Amino acid sequence: MPSTPATTCPETIPPDSSDPRCIPHRLTAPLPVGDSCTYPDYSAEEHAVWRTLSTRMAELLPGRAADEFLTGLASLQLDRDKIPALAAVSRRLQGTTGWQIARTPGLLAAHDFFGYLARRIFPCTDYIRGRHELDYTPAPDCFHDIFGHTPMITHPRFADFYQKIGQAALACRDPQLEEGLTRIYWFTVEFGLVKNPGGLRLFGNGLLSSSGETLHALTDRVEKRPFAPEKAAAQPYDIWHFQEVLWVVDSFDQLECEFVRWAREHRLL
Ligand SMILES: [Fe+2]
Repeated sequence: MPSTPATTCPETIPPDSSDPRCIPHRLTAPLPVGDSCTYPDYSAEEHAVWRTLSTRMAELLPGRAADEFLTGLASLQLDRDKIPALAAVSRRLQGTTGWQIARTPGLLAAHDFFGYLARRIFPCTDYIRGRHELDYTPAPDCFHDIFGHTPMITHPRFADFYQKIGQAALACRDPQLEEGLTRIYWFTVEFGLVKNPGGLRLFGNGLLSSSGETLHALTDRVEKRPFAPEKAAAQPYDIWHFQEVLWVVDSFDQLECEFVRWAREHRLL
């Protein structure tokens, strides 16, 4: 099985009732946000897993990750050697686009997850995968969430787009439209490519957090199409195999503008 990446988007999680990490939480109380997120007592082994993952990714990113992702990653000043504190990452994120981080105990039910995005709060896990799961986890962990997702949220236009995804999802009542929105999320937040001055680059976390997908995505085996929300919304995806079709945005201005147009046409914004 290829190293299909985990995603924070609840509707794209493969059902695996045998793993408690795959069962979405329905919140009965607000999550701690920003400085209210306490720092767990991580073991040396957990810090070592973070170090292994971040070192591997740092070697893979140059020439493949979007300039915007790399700029965001640098601005967050994530520690390479130990798991960062959500409170500290939240403060740095807030200094860029005003987004904050909330600590989630795991996967969230869709309504809860999108409700936080709509308020510019990104729900982050604070536990890390085991060493036997370096290439694949069935559900998000803090490496996926912090290293993979937060850098793009430092980009003003991506951050606005991400909030609008949350707002549109909360307004959506039509199951077919919901599926389209989930596909747009999948093909952008998790599997998006962008044109950079140096060529095509990856900004989707599903691509950037999987070494197999990272290398595969930029080959000719993947068909790259210009991003159009209605077309991405109509394109099924397979969570268990490498992607065969990916969508390329010209810029994050274009991504946000096109998404807003699509969402307004469907009365979601
Ligand atoms: Fe994700």
